[in-house]
Amino acid sequence: MGDELLKVENLRVHYPVRSGFFNHVTDYVHAVDGVSFTIQKGQSYGVIGESGSGKSTIGQALVGLVEATSGTITYRGKDVTDKRVRKKLKYNKDVQMIFQDSLSSLNPKKKVIDIIGEPLRNFEKLSRKDLKQRVLELLQTVGLDEESLYKYPHQFSGGQRQRIGVARAVATKPKLIIADEPVSALDLSVQAQVLNYMKAIQKKYGVAFLFISHDLGVVHHMCDNLAIMHRGRFVEIGTREDIYQDPLHIYTKRLLAAIPQTDVENRESHRKKRQALEAEYNAQKEDYYDKNGRVYPLEEVTRTHFVALRKE
Ligand SMILES: Nc1ncnc2c1ncn2[C@@H]1O[C@H](COP(=O)(O)OP(=O)(O)OP(=O)(O)O)[C@@H](O)[C@H]1O
Ligand SMILES: [Mg+2]
Repeated sequence: MGDELLKVENLRVHYPVRSGFFNHVTDYVHAVDGVSFTIQKGQSYGVIGESGSGKSTIGQALVGLVEATSGTITYRGKDVTDKRVRKKLKYNKDVQMIFQDSLSSLNPKKKVIDIIGEPLRNFEKLSRKDLKQRVLELLQTVGLDEESLYKYPHQFSGGQRQRIGVARAVATKPKLIIADEPVSALDLSVQAQVLNYMKAIQKKYGVAFLFISHDLGVVHHMCDNLAIMHRGRFVEIGTREDIYQDPLHIYTKRLLAAIPQTDVENRESHRKKRQALEAEYNAQKEDYYDKNGRVYPLEEVTRTHFVALRKE
């Protein structure tokens, strides 16, 4: 595949649970339990699921913040599960992350010029003057002015801080940006603004995105392909059209129904639809979840659309 950037196969991350006086490992949390997906160059991939479903763990495993229990991560045709390979491939420069909480992910003691300049300093040799110039350009790309250079994170609004995080993530001209709930802490209007900056950046630099969100409404216009996640597994994967126009799993349908409705006129029909969905869920639970409440293995519906339904 010529356009394949990142391929994840059967990724598992199991966290040990320790308890008792001797602090022995007594159990494992199956945070990510065998997921596979491929991100193409310059495309946006969305991973959507409720809190605790394992979304952030996928992102952290991809950038090496947590270790994969098993599975492979292939970047530009090379297995990057090994740290040394990652270094050789400049993977850590090529794959950047934007975090959900901008206040704790930006160093409060550093000025913006140093925060955005840090990845540049790590990966490129630039004079002080050139570094400042590059940081200024990056600030412009996310709509912040020159005065921001010497301010500290707490002197910005949440939306502005998230834009600083975006600027820092694109500083090294990465091939892939993992955006873990990049706008979920923001007001609706500010959400749209930050997402628009990310879209513009994607256009300008041709960077691929992995969007992580709990809200199918937020990522609607951002993702070419999506995976719906439930308790460490993928429930359904498909193109944007597959997921939004033709959802097949009850979990996907419920997530879609949970998108807040802004138009008053359709509220009543929306409420009825939701009630019908709950009835379907209660009547056909076993078709969607096994006796442990876990979803079944994915089955192919079309070449792009896969869903986890019980086989007859
Ligand atoms: N370091 C850790 N040690 C043990 N368990 C963990 C750790 N990090 C996460 N978990 C558990 O793994 C599961 C998945 O967590 P994760 O943070 O990936 O979920 P998430 O989908 O990102 O949720 P949210 O939407 O709330 O951010 C949860 O049950 C969580 O409690
Ligand atoms: Mg998370």
